Amino acid sequence: MEQLLTKAKKPIFHSLKLTKKERLTKTTFLLEFEIPEHLKENYRFNSGQFVSFKSQFSGSEVLKDYSITSAPFEKQLSLGIKIGEDGSFTDFLIKNVQVGYSIELSEPRGRFTLNSKPNEHRTILGFAAGIGITPILSHLKNIMHEEPRTRFFLFFGNSYSNEIPFKKELDALLHQFQNRLQIYYFFSKESVSQLFSGRLNAEKLHLIINQFLHLDDTDEESTIWDAVDEILICGPGEMIKSLANESHKRGIPKKNIHFELFESFNEDIYESEIEFPLIENIDVSFQLYGENYQTKLQNNKYKLLQQLLEQGFKVPYSCKSGICGICECKLEEGEIELLENEYLTEKEEQSGRILACQTVVLSKKIKVNFDEV
Ligand code: FES
Repeated sequence: MEQLLTKAKKPIFHSLKLTKKERLTKTTFLLEFEIPEHLKENYRFNSGQFVSFKSQFSGSEVLKDYSITSAPFEKQLSLGIKIGEDGSFTDFLIKNVQVGYSIELSEPRGRFTLNSKPNEHRTILGFAAGIGITPILSHLKNIMHEEPRTRFFLFFGNSYSNEIPFKKELDALLHQFQNRLQIYYFFSKESVSQLFSGRLNAEKLHLIINQFLHLDDTDEESTIWDAVDEILICGPGEMIKSLANESHKRGIPKKNIHFELFESFNEDIYESEIEFPLIENIDVSFQLYGENYQTKLQNNKYKLLQQLLEQGFKVPYSCKSGICGICECKLEEGEIELLENEYLTEKEEQSGRILACQTVVLSKKIKVNFDEV
C-alpha cells in the first residue's frame, strides 16, 4: 500500500537528531533539530509549514504534526510543542526524548504560507492563541526580515500572563522592530481590562478595530483596517471561524485570510449562502492513499469533506475554505457544485479536479479520487 500513496500527500521521513529541548512555559516546549548537510534541501521550508513526528506509541505507529517556529533565514528547524494530558503522545515525547536522540521527522509540508514581497509596504495582522503562535512567529520573523517596509500587528491570546510561549523572543523582536511591529496580549483566565481579558473572537475584533486600528497615522482619512493586506490566524477552530468571518465581513477577501487549525474541527469555516435542492442517501466511493472506500451520505446539506471527516475518514485538509488545495481530488462520476475556489485554475476545474471542502454533491452517486491529482 505504501507505494501507492501519492507523492504530494505522503510525508517523507528522515531520522533527525534533537539538539535542543527547552521549556517555554508550564505546558510548552521548544525542540530544535540538526539537519545534516545531505538533507538540507529536503528540509528547506517556508514560514507556516509543519513537520510530522513518526513514532511507536502504545503499540501502534503514531503520526503527529507540529508547526515550525524558526524562520527560513535562521537555518535551523525549531518546533513549538504543547504537552497533552498525562499518557498522551506529546507527554510521552517530552518525557522520553532527550537531546542527542534521533527522531523520525517528515520533510516540511503545509500551505499556511505567504509569498514574500520585499518591495511592498504591507500591513499584516496576526492572531494566535497559545501554542498557535508557533507558525505565526515564523511568519513574523520572516516578514520583518524579508520586507523592510511591512508592518505587523500581532494579537496573541493566552490563559495567563505568566504562560506566554516565546515571550522572550517576542520581546526581543518588539525591541528590534519597534517602528513596524506591535504586539497586544489577551488573557482568557485573567482579569486585566475589558479589552485585554477574554478570548480572541469577533467581539474582541470589534474592540481591536475601534481602539487600535481606528486611525491610520500614515493616512488620516483611513483606518489601518482599510490597509490590511493579509491576515494570519492560528488557534482553535472556533476562534478561526469567528475571526475569519468577521475579517471577511470587514471587506478582506477570503484569499487574503490564511489560517491553520491546530486541532480537528469538523465545521466549515465559512457558511454557504446558497441553497441547493435536497438530495438524500448519496452513494460515495473514493480512493485515498491507495485504498478504495464506499460510504453513504445522509444528504447534501453539508460539504463532502465535512461529511467524510465526520464519518472518520482521514481525508487530508487544512484551510477548509477552498484556498490551500490540500483536499483536492478528481471527480470521476457524478455531479457537484464547487462553492469557493481560490486554488484550482480554470483548466484544472475543467479537467474534473475539485476541492472536497467546497463540494456540494448534486447527484445520487459520486466517485472521487484523492490520489489522482
Ligand atoms: S482544505 Fe484547503 S482547499 Fe480544501
